[in-house]
Amino acid sequence: MTVIAVVGSQWGDEGKGKAVDFLAERADYVARFNGGNNAGHTVINEFGTFKIHLVPSGIFAKNTTALIGGGVVIDPAVLIEEIEMLNKAGVGVDGRLWVSPRSHLIMPYHKILDGLYEDAKGAGATGTTRRGIGPVFADKVSYNGIRWTDFSSEAFENRLKVQLELKNKIIAALGGEALQFESVRDEYRGYYAKLKPYIKELFSIVQDGLKAGKTFLLEQAMGTFLDTDWGTYPFVTASTTIPSAASAGLGIPPKFITQVVGVTKAYTTRVGAGPLPTEIKDTNSEVYKKFGEVAATTGRIRRVGWLDLEIVRTAAELSGMTEICLTKLDILSGLKEIQVCVGYKVNGNPVRYADVDAYGLDKVECMYETLPGWSEDIRTAKSFEELPVNAQKYVKMIESAAGVPVKWIGVGPEREATIRR
Ligand code: GDP
Ligand code: IMO
Ligand code: MG
Repeated sequence: MTVIAVVGSQWGDEGKGKAVDFLAERADYVARFNGGNNAGHTVINEFGTFKIHLVPSGIFAKNTTALIGGGVVIDPAVLIEEIEMLNKAGVGVDGRLWVSPRSHLIMPYHKILDGLYEDAKGAGATGTTRRGIGPVFADKVSYNGIRWTDFSSEAFENRLKVQLELKNKIIAALGGEALQFESVRDEYRGYYAKLKPYIKELFSIVQDGLKAGKTFLLEQAMGTFLDTDWGTYPFVTASTTIPSAASAGLGIPPKFITQVVGVTKAYTTRVGAGPLPTEIKDTNSEVYKKFGEVAATTGRIRRVGWLDLEIVRTAAELSGMTEICLTKLDILSGLKEIQVCVGYKVNGNPVRYADVDAYGLDKVECMYETLPGWSEDIRTAKSFEELPVNAQKYVKMIESAAGVPVKWIGVGPEREATIRR
């Protein structure tokens, strides 16, 4: 039995979707364990180009069973749309996609409150995806959540009534429009009717799979530094993102997670507010234009920065990373020089990531090393040896800083554009 967690080592969007898609060929189960449809995972393969928010990115491998764990929060309309989209593309999810009845539902008031809280914070806003993620997790841990299990009794209607009484008062106080019980009830009953065939307790599926020695691929959403505890709080997301979350979010005992793949972008990006020590702010610079990306979920422009090895090193330590999947090395081609942050200083003294809070991280001085770039287009390279020497040196520098081998190198967005070492 092999249980492999795939986690992002930065602030999300490292290329986890692509990594899970190509690693899934050797998996029996592919699973999501945290977050919700704030995630946007891009997959490009023989079926087409997809931006997936809830279904595990390993669904494209024909023999996988896909699980959405109880640790995931679900906007049912998004899940329905995604299932239809995948079935239409010929991926065929019926009979091999199972959603935990323990997963919590994103309700209309969660999305409204997310927006109202953000607006109220003004300049101090987190820059959330406004998908209701913070409010739904807040309800989960304050015993106010609604789960799929509630639909099998009168619990759903009773709990919804109470929640609407509470939430409508807050919404009205903040200037929003109150929600009507009947319309929310009917809308969600409709979702339940459509999703019922996919809702199934995962406990015995997971336990039987572990006992039978099957291979599990666990797909994190968000990145290490959006983790509620270890990220740049309050500029984080509302779920635990480090591999231990997979234990609670799927019911997999921690001792079984023996492989942790750290998906690491060859530079850094961040969406939303919060510190980004290596940020490149000159929007006219060549490197800003090269690194530029559009967010898969919200369509916002991602902030960009040089590779930050203190961040990657800390992620490796926190998650017990066993190998790195380096992505987007191809994007660096053509740069004369590449800057890499090798550590931080405050008042001339070295500090680690964990020594400062988010506001402190915003002020650290980055110590940079400048490496020579390469001019060759590497998008068709099939082996490490085919890469220009300076690209090889860049990879080796990451390995030695993180203390983790780089086992895969992405040289393009498509599944095949991956070098295995
Ligand atoms: P995720 O949220 O971690 O799955 O990452 P996203 O899909 O949000 O963002 C990663 C972006 O990088 C997507 O547009 C991918 O298609 C793209 N990508 C992933 N790996 C590579 C790579 O090695 N090279 C290039 N050029 N693009 C890549
Ligand atoms: P994937 O899985 C990048 C960010 C938001 C915001 C903060 C809180 O595609 O890597 P939330 O809506 O979660 O309450 O927003 O977290 N964020 C992400 N950034 N990639 C993601 O997911 C993200 N999911 C949330 O931009 O700063
Ligand atoms: Mg993404």
